Amino acid sequence: MTPEPPSRTSTDDAMPGPPPGCPAHGTGPGGLRRLYGPEAEDLEALYEKLRAEHGAVAPVLIHQDVPMWVVLGHSENLHMVRTPSQFTRDSRTWTAFKEGMVAPDHPLMPHFAWQPICSHAEGDEHLRLRGAVTGAMSTIDYRGIRRSINRSTQLLANRFCEDGEADLVSEFADHLPMAVMCEVLGMPEEYNERMVQAARDMIKGTETAIASNEYVMGALVRLTARRRAQPQGDFTSHLINHPAGLTDDEVSQHLRVVLIAAYEATANLLANVLRMVLTDPRFRAQLNGGQMTVPEAVEQSLWDEPPFSAVLGYFAKQETELGGQRIRKGDGLLFGIAPGNVDPRVRPDLTANMQGNRSHLAFGGGPHECPGQDIGRAIADTGVDALLMRLPDVQLACEEHELRWTASLASRHLVELPVKFAPKPPQDVKQRPRAHPVPDPHQEWEITSPTPAPAPGQAAQPSAPQQPVPEPEPAGTGTGTDTVTATATTPGPERRLGAWQRLLRWWRGH
Ligand code: HEM
Repeated sequence: MTPEPPSRTSTDDAMPGPPPGCPAHGTGPGGLRRLYGPEAEDLEALYEKLRAEHGAVAPVLIHQDVPMWVVLGHSENLHMVRTPSQFTRDSRTWTAFKEGMVAPDHPLMPHFAWQPICSHAEGDEHLRLRGAVTGAMSTIDYRGIRRSINRSTQLLANRFCEDGEADLVSEFADHLPMAVMCEVLGMPEEYNERMVQAARDMIKGTETAIASNEYVMGALVRLTARRRAQPQGDFTSHLINHPAGLTDDEVSQHLRVVLIAAYEATANLLANVLRMVLTDPRFRAQLNGGQMTVPEAVEQSLWDEPPFSAVLGYFAKQETELGGQRIRKGDGLLFGIAPGNVDPRVRPDLTANMQGNRSHLAFGGGPHECPGQDIGRAIADTGVDALLMRLPDVQLACEEHELRWTASLASRHLVELPVKFAPKPPQDVKQRPRAHPVPDPHQEWEITSPTPAPAPGQAAQPSAPQQPVPEPEPAGTGTGTDTVTATATTPGPERRLGAWQRLLRWWRGH
């Protein structure tokens, strides 16, 4: 009987190859490619090299030369996340962990360290914890969320609309998900610059990350205690009162998972969609022509630039085969969302418009599939929609090639998105819908289309004297009245509101 070849990600690896760390080869022990350091500066290109060399599943080294598999194929990734009998998210079963290869100060430790939360649990315990999270989510009123997204968008836009310029990452995308999630959880008073910075700091893992984590946890522990004593109608109260009977510690830990997962991913998504809408001629042209809706732009972005590029990680529960590779019990695998989304077997032409197709891997799949995807999509769709309505002449204020990203194995974050537009007056978000002059149908079409980008080098046109621009979804600005209902039943400015409805339909592509 032929002896089994050693698993290329197992710790007893003994493949011939260049000496460890050989800089001439850019590879590490066993000749494996590193997913960190200089060779991994362009991760996209590295994944394609690995695909060409190994196919859908490739052996690699992560920081400190810990061996792992990276799953590159779309169907192989789906198979892994959908087969809990073979793969688990419980890192305590990882051979590299058990054999002490992953030092406590490993840079990816925050991703791997097991915690008693739904993301790492499995079986009945996963059902119990996740059941409480999804149960609480099922009570969320989506119309209320859209109102909150709209109101927060208006408030954020008020901070910069008079300046005629803004950085849409630090002044908008980083803020909107936090403002909305603080409201959903039941602590709108905790939303502030400090909370946004603390969440970002925790994710970056800087030396102040521990203090930032304590700041966020402090707010969540206080919220848990308040709602335990006096439940209300918010997410936290429903989480506490769910029949799964979560302890206070479990409640606050899950509030943290929800807040941070929602914040980081949705902030990335918002920034990516805004960049796409501002820079990609396909979208600009299609939005102007009325064929590409904002939700379609969101879905395209989830394919091309998934907010989480990989999930670290999954672990083999038994000896198995994946993508032609022999995986040993205890091997670690990266759920490769970004490389899976560009698998040439599902996307032979990467420039093709995905037209709202939702079969990307951005939200994962199987038992751990993201339970908050509708909220993430709602924040991106409504936020981008409302911002474009508010700043119809917005355009990029730098060359596209000047945009920079910070990237890690797990995610990619746009550093800045500088834009310019003609200065606009702030909007009173508490005010009831204002009476706007009724535009004739032709003007309405022109006004509501995003202004085409001027030729390179041509400055934005000043707005004054401005055409009357419809305000974004007026009843969603803190009046507590649902926009659609209110506009449908208000007898007064019927013709204007009818135009608004038509505008929204056109904008959303119906
Ligand atoms: C665009 C936004 C979002 C993206 C791209 C995203 C993506 C993901 C991904 C990839 C996972 C891991 C799946 C896996 O392990 O296989 C996940 C898990 C999770 N997400 Fe999201 N997410 C987003 C927004 C949200 C929001 C808004 C919430 C909450 C309101 C949320 C709550 C969670 C939770 C609780 C889990 C863990 C689920 C479990 O392990 O059972 N996410 N998300």
